[in-house]
Amino acid sequence: MNEPILKIEHLTHVYSQGTPFELTAVRDVDLEIHKGEILALIGHTGSGKSTLIQHLNALIKPTSGRVLLGGQDIFESKKSVKAARAAVGLVFQYPEYQLFEETVYKDIAFGPKNMKLPSNEIDDRVRLAARFVGLEEDVLERAPFDLSGGQKRRAAIAGVIAMLPEVLVLDEPMAGLDPAGRESIMENILTYHDETNAAIVIVTHSMDEAARYAHRMVVLDHGRVAMTGTPEEVFSHGEELRAMGLATPVMTDLALRLRALGVAVPGNVYTVERMADALMALERGRDRA
Ligand SMILES: Nc1ncnc2c1ncn2[C@@H]1O[C@H](COP(=O)(O)OP(=O)(O)OP(=O)(O)O)[C@@H](O)[C@H]1O
Ligand SMILES: [Mg+2]
Repeated sequence: MNEPILKIEHLTHVYSQGTPFELTAVRDVDLEIHKGEILALIGHTGSGKSTLIQHLNALIKPTSGRVLLGGQDIFESKKSVKAARAAVGLVFQYPEYQLFEETVYKDIAFGPKNMKLPSNEIDDRVRLAARFVGLEEDVLERAPFDLSGGQKRRAAIAGVIAMLPEVLVLDEPMAGLDPAGRESIMENILTYHDETNAAIVIVTHSMDEAARYAHRMVVLDHGRVAMTGTPEEVFSHGEELRAMGLATPVMTDLALRLRALGVAVPGNVYTVERMADALMALERGRDRA
């Protein structure tokens, strides 16, 4: 495989070190992120997902270990920190709480402005990013607090997309939205991926979403990488995922139940399409017998 854009080496993060509240949130994590890949980061509440990804654009510093962007340690200098902030766009968990400007326009423009782009380019990017996430022009002059929950979420995502990051990192971008809202935000993210070949890192609680979109999955458990692989590889360990308190895709659950009933469904069934294929194959086998 080609050189990774981002490389995490032996990253450990300890909160409140040296106090009675000391807590190791991320332990010795190694991870590579490649151009064009869609990586789903999953794990139980408190497993360290948000802590880990906040290192990717130099928002927080590792207690030990390194993050390399294009081979360079992102904390090497002020310049490398700046480069990381420009190359890696981070959309926070519940980003709507971070909208703080008077207008949606100014909020989306905040990142590109910090990048010191010329004002006509900032304007182009704001309008492009707004269109991209499906916000109408007239919304741009409104106050962020005046928007609906879904629109706020879109505005926050637009603010990061306006920086045209090579790596787009999203922390539970669909959390709290209705199914239509989830679907449409996911489509925006996939379009950004397809048009720019950016790497996408998406933290999600939804195994079904990870099963549908991810090329690769990383499972965190108590701050450690417990599993990594394609969805097929990861979901073939259904019992282990459950032991970590994680749900499995609906079709994985059904496959487990069918196996318990003596139906020989293979271990790599985790989508409706695969279940249909597996059952049809069994049916054909029975007809021949
Ligand atoms: N700023 C902080 N100070 C101290 N402890 C923190 C801080 N942020 C998170 N933690 C703790 O670190 C651990 C990992 O938290 P983190 O938010 O990274 O988990 P997470 O996997 O994102 O969880 P969730 O799925 O609930 O978002 C938890 O025990 C959490 O309580
Ligand atoms: Mg989190």
